[in-house]
Amino acid sequence: MARSAAHTVFNHPVHSLDFIKVTESAALAASRWMGRGERDAADGAAVEKMRESLNEMDIAGRIVIGEGERDEAPMLYIGEEVGCGGEEVDIAVDPVEGTNLVANGLPNSIAVMAISERGGLLHAPDSYMKKLAVGPKAAPFVHIDAPVAENLEAVANALEKPINDVCVVILDRPRHADLIREVRAAGARIRLISDGDVDSCIATAIDSTGIHVAMGTGGAPEGVLAAAAIKCLGGNFMGRLQPRNQEEADRAVAMGFGDLGRVLEIGDLVKSDNVIFCATGITDGDLVRGVRFYGNQARTHSIHVHSNGTVRFIESIHRLGARPSGR
Ligand code: FBP
Repeated sequence: MARSAAHTVFNHPVHSLDFIKVTESAALAASRWMGRGERDAADGAAVEKMRESLNEMDIAGRIVIGEGERDEAPMLYIGEEVGCGGEEVDIAVDPVEGTNLVANGLPNSIAVMAISERGGLLHAPDSYMKKLAVGPKAAPFVHIDAPVAENLEAVANALEKPINDVCVVILDRPRHADLIREVRAAGARIRLISDGDVDSCIATAIDSTGIHVAMGTGGAPEGVLAAAAIKCLGGNFMGRLQPRNQEEADRAVAMGFGDLGRVLEIGDLVKSDNVIFCATGITDGDLVRGVRFYGNQARTHSIHVHSNGTVRFIESIHRLGARPSGR
């Protein structure tokens, strides 16, 4: 049945939910490689399925965050057009966020995607970003340039918790040694993660995850993906680009980044107010459960967040051998 012209991917509920099929198919493909020590194979399988599913959708999609530049990525490269035609949208993808996690069978790997109107998502260079993420209650009271202790105190006050109940997620990297010391000195608890900061940034904005703050430096593209979900959830995400070397800095400037040192507020990272974010678990995590296999069926668990404020957790059962959702 043809959709009315008034319906767009952002206000047509069935169409917006269709994006879940894309992350489901990527997660299902990657999960076959769980624990096999082959991160590239897991990523390759997910990329292929994600692209296949995107190309079945009635959209004129353009990849703005993907697997890399055209000459280094055969699929889902930046600038690639996807979909079989329809409304113009920009798409940020990470078919496997946490490739090491999948390879090692560790928690918190997800297949993830954000969709916005054209021009709605920052074209983040493949570089690092300093990040600060909190949920809605603490959102107005933190700033990436404030001292760590001040931010943690602000979060504790906003959540009406003693500071030693505040849980901060930080990537376990030598570059974070000072940050870890400062957080502990302030009295907060830390959950160190080996990979996968998209999941933990978003977890700050969902009650019941027990994660209140995410801090530290990780991938810049991952920052935009997390910011897309956090914007829809009413939390706060702030970033600052941290190029690792002159080449990265030059590339960012060539992409039109301007002042590399500027603070990137959530509205700079995600300009559009029409955003859809979805992620499907590959391995069990704070947000969603991983793929489970039962006989000739697989069960996936996904989160779908819409800028209208609706958050859906979707559990799907897929008959193996059939396309996800039977398409
Ligand atoms: P991949 O999925 O590309 O392996 O990225 C995983 C990740 O842990 C991200 O979540 C994080 O932002 C980034 O890598 C951190 O980079 P690094 O491992 O270089 O510290």
